[in-house]
Amino acid sequence: QIPLPWRRQYQTTPASAIPDHAFAFDIDGVLVRSSAPLPGASQALKYLQAQRIPFILLTNGGGKSEEERVSDLQNKLDVELDTSMIVQSHTPFADLTDLHDKTVLVAGGDYDKCQLAAQNYGFKNVVTPGDIVNAYPDIWPFSKVFLDYYKSFAKPLPKPIIPHSTSADALKIDAVFVYNDPRDWGLDAHIILDALLSESGYLGTVSKKNGNVSLPNKGYLQDSQPPLYYSNPDMWWATSYHLSRLGQGGFTAAFDGLWNSVTGGAQLPKTIIGKPHQETYEFAERRLRAHRKQLFGQVGLNDPLRRVYMIGDNPESDIQGANNYRSPYGSHWTSVLIKTGVWKEGTVPAHKPHVIRENVLDAVQWAVEDAK
Ligand code: G3P
Ligand code: MG
Repeated sequence: QIPLPWRRQYQTTPASAIPDHAFAFDIDGVLVRSSAPLPGASQALKYLQAQRIPFILLTNGGGKSEEERVSDLQNKLDVELDTSMIVQSHTPFADLTDLHDKTVLVAGGDYDKCQLAAQNYGFKNVVTPGDIVNAYPDIWPFSKVFLDYYKSFAKPLPKPIIPHSTSADALKIDAVFVYNDPRDWGLDAHIILDALLSESGYLGTVSKKNGNVSLPNKGYLQDSQPPLYYSNPDMWWATSYHLSRLGQGGFTAAFDGLWNSVTGGAQLPKTIIGKPHQETYEFAERRLRAHRKQLFGQVGLNDPLRRVYMIGDNPESDIQGANNYRSPYGSHWTSVLIKTGVWKEGTVPAHKPHVIRENVLDAVQWAVEDAK
């Protein structure tokens, strides 16, 4: 990690000058909308760097490696960033080290980019729906129109799909992940459904147990169904279109409906991370504290991080999460809602922010004053 010029400046900072506050910025609807920077975003981040006030980017977005996302944002915002300053929706999956040697299905997003992100976390056997439909086009007949696209980056499967086989040389999915908003909901939903209804994750098989509502636990048996992980609960997000667009939470809701119709109401246990969940905020605070320590060299017991300002556009994720977050590390998070994203002025936000400001620069100026 080559120290950045402004980082060298921080490391000479005397302990007394280490601020007791920091920022967490949501990305979509706060710093950018689709690929367009929002007014004041670059200025706000540059101001904090000049004032030596640490910040991280905490997004329910993703679909690419942290390296690629940071590079994109550096170019869009003309601000020096590095991967220690970002938490994407799927970044916390890196901690699932017990699955790193297993075979995992990573659905959603641009398959090759999500595959690389998972491999960067340490997952050694990452399979995508694109790899599967490239190898077995009949698995979802309606994806044939996209086959040339999938073929352009699909990887060979680690093992073949052997119909009705649970032998060791058949492809077995040990866990299912959705890393980002699926592009082809039909393909992703069908491959995930196949995995969840299979005999212990062997694609091409059907378990009599999974989905069988007559069973005592309504058809879900841990020992036979690969666990399902979603990275982002957002039903809506702010893009370059004037109306908010469906996010990964929309796909989750659609899949729940599909599962219920297919199984007649069998349980579908799933793990959903991302804002507003406590675990995601704890992961983000650990990353913020590590980044702060990197900036200032040693951070002692006399340099506590007392206050984090969470600047967001979505009451359901950014505001709810900051309001409900109980830090195990001793900080207090203050929610700041701004008007440039999902929430529309004139409506009552589903979760009450500490304060509402116009845009990200206005929010930073308010917070810097509030922190004094
Ligand atoms: O997929 C991105 C969307 O869910 C929202 O991202 O940056 O507003 O948390 P963000
Ligand atoms: Mg947002």
